[in-house]
Amino acid sequence: MYSYKDVLAEVLIDEETLQHRVQELADQICKDYEGKDLVLVCFLRGGVVFLVDLMRKMTIPHSIEFMAISSYGAGARESTGHVRVDYDLKTDIRDKDVLIVEDIIDSGNTLHEAIPLIQAKGPKSLEICTLLNKESRREVDIPIKYCGFVIEDKFVYGYGLDLDDYFRNLPFIGVVDIEKLKKYQS
Ligand code: IMP
Ligand code: MG
Repeated sequence: MYSYKDVLAEVLIDEETLQHRVQELADQICKDYEGKDLVLVCFLRGGVVFLVDLMRKMTIPHSIEFMAISSYGAGARESTGHVRVDYDLKTDIRDKDVLIVEDIIDSGNTLHEAIPLIQAKGPKSLEICTLLNKESRREVDIPIKYCGFVIEDKFVYGYGLDLDDYFRNLPFIGVVDIEKLKKYQS
């Protein structure tokens, strides 16, 4: 097994910058959702680190829920545009103000398919908060209410985002050096 350092091209967003931005997002969300019945819906597994930091910086009452969806063809780095629900929400979100918490929006296909599934459960409102936005890769329009950072089309890992399921624990966002990675993949 290789180390994260073996495949790191550069640190794209360091820990301090991430934490500062997450605080700004938390402050804005608290302002906007004051007095509302807020549920943060996190998509497993990539959104977990962001969710946990975000909620700990929030000062208004809210609950959390999880959903796991996967693109057909596990292991693919690019989504295919078809999703399967692996784990569904466990509490009723009817009439609640739902905020989806995502790690990254790339093509947008995953959310494009997931949004109607959540909408069908009758929330009072439904908005999206994503840490990262690979805007140039978008294939379908996704209305994003809160965005941490718009990033270039590079494969990134850390802070919840995985590289072949590893390195989600890194406190920063790193860019993968594809040439170096190839040496470790058969
Ligand atoms: P989309 O359906 O193309 O928007 O892809 C969404 C999912 O692809 C994200 O939730 C991530 O799990 C994954 N993904 C896209 N880009 C990256 C990346 O650069 N690093 C890690 N995962 C990524
Ligand atoms: Mg994800």
